[in-house]
Amino acid sequence: KSIVVLVSGNGSNLQAIIDDISQHKINAKISAVIANQESAYALTRAENAGIPALYIDHKSFASREEYDAKMASCIDEFKPNLIVLAGFMRILTPSFVEHFQGRMLNIHPSLLPKYKGLHTHQRAIDAGDKEHGASVHFVTPELDGGPVVLQSKVPVFEQQDEQELADRVQQQERQMYPLVIKWFCEDRLKMINNRAVLDNQIL
Ligand code: GRF
Repeated sequence: KSIVVLVSGNGSNLQAIIDDISQHKINAKISAVIANQESAYALTRAENAGIPALYIDHKSFASREEYDAKMASCIDEFKPNLIVLAGFMRILTPSFVEHFQGRMLNIHPSLLPKYKGLHTHQRAIDAGDKEHGASVHFVTPELDGGPVVLQSKVPVFEQQDEQELADRVQQQERQMYPLVIKWFCEDRLKMINNRAVLDNQIL
């Protein structure tokens, strides 16, 4: 299977996927890593792994639609079976999402449907939540609203420090995202009628 990964930042999730592929835990190839931020360390991680690393600058496009159209055609050139959003911090247009419907996954740092959007760790602390975590979901036009495939929980401690909580959540992310990608690459995971289906069971 061929995967294209979209990134904006550090790329720790990308690294976990690269590592699992190189250890033959996932039977797939990352055909390209594409960033919307030139400074994304994820691009360096890709280069270090010998993966084509591309940066598409949104400032050279007049509209979100044009940027997304360029991205979609760029992705299509790699003929991916799966598009993985790994810390890609840009809202995608409905037409982009529909083009890749059923073959695009995202990881979001909250127990969805709680805390869609940004600053999820601080919001969980402020709400006094006893547990927090991350979710992997299929991408649909509703932001962070597609069907959830897998969630991982961590405890929130008294007087919780935001960064410490984020670190623990991200540690979980690096375990769960490669697992879900493995399922998809083994044709065990699908999106059917806006539901996530694993081994023919609705999740
Ligand atoms: C992760 O916490 C992910 O859930 C969120 O952005 C962060 C990306 O981290 N969408 P990294 O770039 O994979 O290190």
